[in-house]
Amino acid sequence: MDFQLKANYQPAGDQPSAIKALTKGLKDGLNKQTLFGVTGSGKTFTIANVIQNVQKPVLVLAHNKTLAAQLCNEFREFFPGNAVEYFVSYYDYYQPEAYLPRTDTYIEKDAQINKEIDRLRHAATQALLSRRDVIIVASVSCIYGLGSPEAYKEFVIHVEQGSTRQNVMRQLVAMQFERTNADLKLGTYRVRGDVMEVMPMSEETIYRVTFKNEAAGEIVKLDPVTRKMEGRQADVWIFPAKHFMSTPVTRERALAAIRAELKERLALLDRESKTLEAERLSRRTRYDLEMIQNIGYCSGIENYSRHFDGRAPGQAPYTLLDYFPDDFLLVVDESHVTLPQVRGMYNGDQARKRTLVEHGFRLPSAVDNRPLTFDEFDEKIGQAVYVSATPGLIEKETSEQIVEQIIRPTGLVDPEVTIRPVSEGRIVIPSYVEGSLLSAKKYPGQIEDLIAEIEKRVPKSERTLVTTLTKKMAEDLTDFLVEKGIKVQYLHSDVKTIDRIGVLTDLRKGVYDVVVGVNLLREGLDLPEVTLMGILDADKEGFLRSESSLIQTIGRVARNVEGKVILYGDEMTGSMKRAIDETNRRRKKQITYNKKHGITPQTIKKEVGDIRELLSLGETDVKNILKIEMTAEPHEIREVIAEKEVEMKKAAANLQFELAAILRDEIKVLEGEFKTKQLCKTI
Ligand SMILES: Nc1ncnc2c1ncn2[C@@H]1O[C@H](COP(=O)(O)OP(=O)(O)OP(=O)(O)O)[C@@H](O)[C@H]1O
Ligand SMILES: [Mg+2]
Repeated sequence: MDFQLKANYQPAGDQPSAIKALTKGLKDGLNKQTLFGVTGSGKTFTIANVIQNVQKPVLVLAHNKTLAAQLCNEFREFFPGNAVEYFVSYYDYYQPEAYLPRTDTYIEKDAQINKEIDRLRHAATQALLSRRDVIIVASVSCIYGLGSPEAYKEFVIHVEQGSTRQNVMRQLVAMQFERTNADLKLGTYRVRGDVMEVMPMSEETIYRVTFKNEAAGEIVKLDPVTRKMEGRQADVWIFPAKHFMSTPVTRERALAAIRAELKERLALLDRESKTLEAERLSRRTRYDLEMIQNIGYCSGIENYSRHFDGRAPGQAPYTLLDYFPDDFLLVVDESHVTLPQVRGMYNGDQARKRTLVEHGFRLPSAVDNRPLTFDEFDEKIGQAVYVSATPGLIEKETSEQIVEQIIRPTGLVDPEVTIRPVSEGRIVIPSYVEGSLLSAKKYPGQIEDLIAEIEKRVPKSERTLVTTLTKKMAEDLTDFLVEKGIKVQYLHSDVKTIDRIGVLTDLRKGVYDVVVGVNLLREGLDLPEVTLMGILDADKEGFLRSESSLIQTIGRVARNVEGKVILYGDEMTGSMKRAIDETNRRRKKQITYNKKHGITPQTIKKEVGDIRELLSLGETDVKNILKIEMTAEPHEIREVIAEKEVEMKKAAANLQFELAAILRDEIKVLEGEFKTKQLCKTI
């Protein structure tokens, strides 16, 4: 199937020429190109058109999950009939394994991986192995070790009329599917008489296969909730339930190699008299070996990936990139941030792993389960397009063609930028201030001034973004604004990704009028309702107030004709001057263009889709389930606790200690609730 682009607008402004130039570049075989397009110039739509023109599988790389989710949603709308998938790490939501020697703290990998993220990751690899009209929107997670695609592919089963029952069952087990008698979940199957039902890892759907004389007959697709039949099928392909797969042969080889490495390592630790470390390593590795031997899998199996893949020490691991065909197109969004992030991954990871190895938590080979180095990454990619409003050095040095996009499709011009003082009564820098409004005497200071600006906008249903220098300041300012009766929320790195997406959606919907942030209200966010960007302490030169940070932040209001920016600063820094001069230069060019072509700028029109729908299940579910349990009567809570205790014991007996621990925590919460309720009753 081909990519078929659907949109209710046409390329406009500089988009048509950018699309043409990039497409030609790709067809001429250019390896690296940059789309240097101003903020809000519709770079995503330009790229969508290029994808439509070249018809190749695409990897879109973004530097954070909020942006990746926004992009994924946009591409899904542009390509409704094609496979657009989301591939991010669940460690971005949860804690990876680490050891902090200074405080002797071992942080176990959080076992509660987000099922929904996992499902989407499986849907991504599955799409890549079964079709060519695929766009994967990924975070840097895509340069981390993943099972070998060859091993993964080897396990895929094709169930069709006549497939034998024994084969299907055996292969499901080999693919790490779990058998259940209860409700089907992702990656489980159930057998009752001649009927086998399976839910793949990648979709919340049940496939029901009825066997007759040990051979598959009817295959139907069922809705798991309503159990309504969604259709009959001639066949179904089922993909493994895990990304790390091994055949009995590779498993034996891996087990032998792990044992050999363990022996060698223990001898070394012994010679160094590191008894505690040796004991720790021996216990953990032997346990893992046993698990792998008995059930073919253990938690954290990816740490042994070198032995499973048969790679030499130091050799690059398999990653998502290896699931793509050779001719895929790489698009790096916000490349000025994403490329340096890719470059930094390897070192950060090695430091963490080395500490784990040194202290006996892992074998030395664990360091080979790692992200790619930048050079390895560069080698694995073919043709790439870097996308940014403020390209960095890497883009400038490596691009064979840089395509500019300055005129926005909607005629919108860069926003007006003014500077106002931070402190009350300061002298105002004359050339950048809106005339009479600010006589030095009347000026109330940045916060009061900001509040006045917000209050002007609330009745018009216009939103405001504010950036501060620290999380603490963002929270304090939010508290202060709440006291003033303003509907406001803060958004910084401590806010979980899914919640961040929620805050931004709620800002668009009007649940909030203001969002205060530090470094997240920048690249890529498409919030057409925002008409004011207030940048506090704009004159504190540094990373957060550098030229490109300022340009990116200013760009957030380049989606609304009313868009304005206020830089609060008592002085003019070099970065401020360069950012303002560049903004004014473009503004002038855009206004002239509009005059010449008789264009009236239009605010972006965009529906408020809730990106959270992409991540519909997952952690919120757990919370909701608990919430329902908590509203129950005390005697009902007792029953739930009893049930969970049974499950916990069962889990422990099955060596599922992590699951047992989760259940134990839930029981704790419920017991607390039970006691409170009892107390309330007696009072
Ligand atoms: N040809 C067009 N006609 C009308 N609207 C468009 C067109 N192209 C893009 N848009 C809209 O413009 C808005 C901004 O586009 P987009 O987010 O792709 O900008 P961008 O160039 O990536 O900006 P940033 O640098 O901030 O990421 C989107 O809401 C998009 O739907
Ligand atoms: Mg963008």
